[in-house]
Amino acid sequence: MGKLRVGVLASGNGSNLQAIIDSSQAGKIDVEVAVVVSDVADAHALERARRAGIPAVHVPPGRFRTRLTPEAEQRFIEVLEKHGVRVVALAGFMRILHDDFLKRYAGRVLNVHPALLPAFPGLHGQKQALDYGVKWSGATVHFVDAGVDTGPVILQAAVPVMDDDTQETLAARILEQEHRIYPEALGLIAENRIRVDGRLVTSAGENTGARGGGEA
Ligand code: GAR
Repeated sequence: MGKLRVGVLASGNGSNLQAIIDSSQAGKIDVEVAVVVSDVADAHALERARRAGIPAVHVPPGRFRTRLTPEAEQRFIEVLEKHGVRVVALAGFMRILHDDFLKRYAGRVLNVHPALLPAFPGLHGQKQALDYGVKWSGATVHFVDAGVDTGPVILQAAVPVMDDDTQETLAARILEQEHRIYPEALGLIAENRIRVDGRLVTSAGENTGARGGGEA
């Protein structure tokens, strides 16, 4: 079986995208980033993709602020299909996806979130953690379902929150973990080592065969 073709959706800097590209190009994970799609024309993520020789596509999101219009979402799907994408990785993608998209890629959309879910979902997970006064926060990679940051958790990593942390210092400490666990989660999926039972995701030592057959 060839490498797992992953499509990355990103709206901003794309440091998680870079971590995935680096792991994949170093041969650490059996993943190929097939295309990067952004709702933001000048997202640095698109530049990172181009530099790595990966197709980079801007799709205008339409008139809504927090989601894509159905037409735009259809266009995202077309681009992903054109590039033979099997798994979609949201990496700092700041828009909520509809049912149509999630049905098309059921159980095959991942997201990274800068908090230990279910704590502090939604925007500004780092600020929420500081405001709440927690002593630990972290990063979560999870499957995407119809809710906001509510899908089954694949991997998490904790970091301490320091008394003198600012949003920036905490975000940087969390990002280091995001960059580690996001490629790792994709690598587990590429190796068929992820099993999902309701909310419970386990990673088996061996190939589960979950990727065999099924749709392309
Ligand atoms: C990351 O910290 C990611 O967890 C967060 O945006 C940042 C994107 O960084 N995502 C969310 O807050 C989603 N709700 P990047 O563009 O450098 O990968």
